Amino acid sequence: MNELKETLYKAVYAAGDILKTYFQKKFNIESKDIISNLVTEVDKRSEEKIIKIIKQKFPEHNILSEEIGAVRTESSIKWIIDPLDGTVNYAHKIPIFCVSVGIEQGNEIIMGLVYNPLSNEEFFAEKGKGAYLNKKKIKVSKEKNLKKSLLVTGFPYNTSKNPMDPVKTFSKFVNRDIPVRRIGSAALDLCWTACGRFDGFWEYNLNPWDTAAGYLILKEAGGKITDFTGKKYSVYLKEILATNGLIHKQMLRIINTDD
Ligand code: IPD
Ligand code: CA
Ligand code: CA
Repeated sequence: MNELKETLYKAVYAAGDILKTYFQKKFNIESKDIISNLVTEVDKRSEEKIIKIIKQKFPEHNILSEEIGAVRTESSIKWIIDPLDGTVNYAHKIPIFCVSVGIEQGNEIIMGLVYNPLSNEEFFAEKGKGAYLNKKKIKVSKEKNLKKSLLVTGFPYNTSKNPMDPVKTFSKFVNRDIPVRRIGSAALDLCWTACGRFDGFWEYNLNPWDTAAGYLILKEAGGKITDFTGKKYSVYLKEILATNGLIHKQMLRIINTDD
């Protein structure tokens, strides 16, 4: 376990250094499937570094990483990597982004690390051992009243074509005078909910690399995560509702009402 943790830290911090070095400098930016869905040279450099460090120590492990996809082996361990979560922020010189790496064993996420190298904030969790921000234990908020809550969400790059209509859900919360933020990094949305800055987070259409580490961090901080029907969440599901637990049912009710 210690070797896994050491390698996780080494890889994520090396990637964080790359993100810090290139931030606000010149780098190549391309669009992916949709014009607004960006990938930069820095995403790729960060990914290369993380994978190199993992492969040096654990050449037999599986990898699932945003830009290169899946490298399949017989191992029961899979590293789930987002080399830069918040690429659109990064490309626009906004200092809200991170490196996010989760480790899955069998069907469970057993460790996760999310690191923002500019704010120097590091969120870590290991299954059954709690969640930490810069080595201090964190807990979700104690807010019970949805009207007093601060929520966060994100919008998929294909919002206009998404049959779930994410803007409608957003307007249902805003029209009830509940404040909602959109910070542009799903991994940080989960971590900031885990440490009580936000009380709840929902989003449509995320991928395993967006949520693997943050999912465990939120759970270990005492939070609750389900899909939009209230059923058990998996990082391979598209929809996520993550809260302090106390406002979970109230949020589910609003997501599932018609107005
Ligand atoms: C994105 C961010 C964003 C979320 C998008 C993700 P990326 O990840 O997490 O907050 O709304 O759905 O794709 O592209 O910056 O790694
Ligand atoms: Ca992402
Ligand atoms: Ca990314």
